[in-house]
Amino acid sequence: MKISIETLDADKRGECPAELGFGNIFTDHLFTQCYDQGKGWHSQAIKPFHDFTLHPAASVLHYGQEIFEGLKAYRRPDGGINLFRPDQNVRRFNRSAERLVMPTVDEAFHIEAIRQLVEIDQSWVPDQASSSLYIRPAMIATTPKLGLGAATSYLHFIMAGPVGPYFKEGFNPVSVYVSDSFRRAVKGGVGEAKTGGNYAASLFMSEQAAKEGFTQVLWLDALEGRYVEEVGAMNICFVHGGRRIVTPELSGSILAGVTRDSVLQLAPTLGFEVAEERLAIDDIMAKIESGEITEVFGCGTAAVISPVGRLRYRGADKTINGMEAGPVARRLYEELTAIQYGRRDDPFGWIVRV
Ligand code: PLP
Ligand code: COI
Repeated sequence: MKISIETLDADKRGECPAELGFGNIFTDHLFTQCYDQGKGWHSQAIKPFHDFTLHPAASVLHYGQEIFEGLKAYRRPDGGINLFRPDQNVRRFNRSAERLVMPTVDEAFHIEAIRQLVEIDQSWVPDQASSSLYIRPAMIATTPKLGLGAATSYLHFIMAGPVGPYFKEGFNPVSVYVSDSFRRAVKGGVGEAKTGGNYAASLFMSEQAAKEGFTQVLWLDALEGRYVEEVGAMNICFVHGGRRIVTPELSGSILAGVTRDSVLQLAPTLGFEVAEERLAIDDIMAKIESGEITEVFGCGTAAVISPVGRLRYRGADKTINGMEAGPVARRLYEELTAIQYGRRDDPFGWIVRV
């Protein structure tokens, strides 16, 4: 598959600002390809960033047949650019596609499209500390059809934008609200897929929690409301006694995070023990109270590692590590970002150079 390329002249290109938020500015170009049943994927192109025209009956607008991904490109000290685990990312994209009855993409081609887009927009890869180029692949159902059923035409696109820290807190601990009444996803549903509906389902509780000063919501399993699942934009880890890192086992309704998997592989090489277990919220709150749990942190592409300083569950607040970032989260953040930015060797084969 060949990508047709049309680039902006140098004098029409934008510039990466010095101050970066998250997800509000985009680079100069966009990758797109189209799918039609019987024809397969076609019209691969990188063009100047542009809007889409959609039929008002396009299935994505009514029934939410949509998937997306998030990965990052990092500026190396030598000026080069690293992609972090794009193979795992596209594999999850295809798992989401299968769950949402959408066509899968060729994995090597998808990574090559990312590589070419980042190369064309390389001046947008920031070199400030804690900044990177966030890459957002997505796929939407475009068939104009109000009868409920899988669409027969799709648009796959990849956009990118420079980002700073995901949370305004930066690496300072965030406060997390444990939702006892609303649920994000249920086993058998689409929680394992990265699809917009999961995020739409989370907004109501997230907005309420935000009004009370909480940055994220921690979701419990939807069947019993007893077991810890994940946070809105991250998986979650609990540190026991300063050395044993435990994260909820994948339950069928948790997103299998690439950062979570990286922590599970990296931490043992740093002398920590890791485990994936079913974690009851009552036990977690008791272990925070007793001091057995010494740190809590979230992990995800957007936030990397984010210490959690406070959990509220059923009206009771528990503070963790005196609302300070702990040594385990800090060590993992430093080691993981050192690999991502190319400041240390990558013994895991996670990095793909652009
Ligand atoms: N859980 C949810 C709901 C997410 O949106 C994310 C972010 O992608 C994660 C977990 C972490 O996944 P990853 O580390 O692959 O970014
Ligand atoms: C990511 O880390 O890529 C996420 O999905 C977070 C997103 C909801 C902003």
